[in-house]
Amino acid sequence: MGSESGRGRSVYLSDEAAMLAYGKRFSTCLHPGLIIFLYGNLGAGKTTLARGILHGLGYVRHVKSPTYNLVEIYKFSQLYLYHFDFYRLNDFLEWEEAGFREYFNSESICLVEWPEKTGDLLPTADLNVFIEMSESGRNIDVRADTETGRRCLITCENLKTP
Ligand SMILES: Nc1ncnc2c1ncn2[C@@H]1O[C@H](COP(=O)(O)OP(=O)(O)OP(=O)(O)O)[C@@H](O)[C@H]1O
Ligand SMILES: [Mg+2]
Repeated sequence: MGSESGRGRSVYLSDEAAMLAYGKRFSTCLHPGLIIFLYGNLGAGKTTLARGILHGLGYVRHVKSPTYNLVEIYKFSQLYLYHFDFYRLNDFLEWEEAGFREYFNSESICLVEWPEKTGDLLPTADLNVFIEMSESGRNIDVRADTETGRRCLITCENLKTP
């Protein structure tokens, strides 16, 4: 999933089940404080990946897309996970009034769909995940942009894949 250069291998996932399994595997190397941006066109599979991650962390109920509420909040025993979708974020005022800035803290994992809609409001992501449609499946690339992200990718790389 990752490498010491900070650039993950490109992985091909042929269907939704493979994407969910990838997310589950990915979840095992995540920890509080990580900020992860999910890039990809409409329908690329960002929410599906977030679902896999949440299932991997032990969330068994339906994972909703945050498209309308902008954020869905999940509480686990050791951490919070905030799943954002900023596609419909209107402006800076909406961001400030919602108090989104405080969600990016050391006790929480933040997964962000459509980070590019926020201008420069967001902190730097530890991991950037790029999802591209390819044939009938998806290609995924993970890139680390911080030291924390690079360490996380190395942990992922060392995991035994099921
Ligand atoms: N690896 C995959 N191969 C083929 N189809 C996939 C794969 N992963 C997800 N999908 C399908 O892609 C569709 C859209 O997925 P999803 O809602 O996760 O996209 P999204 O990137 O979150 O879109 P949006 O930008 O609208 O929020 C779903 O029908 C899902 O089943
Ligand atoms: Mg989505």
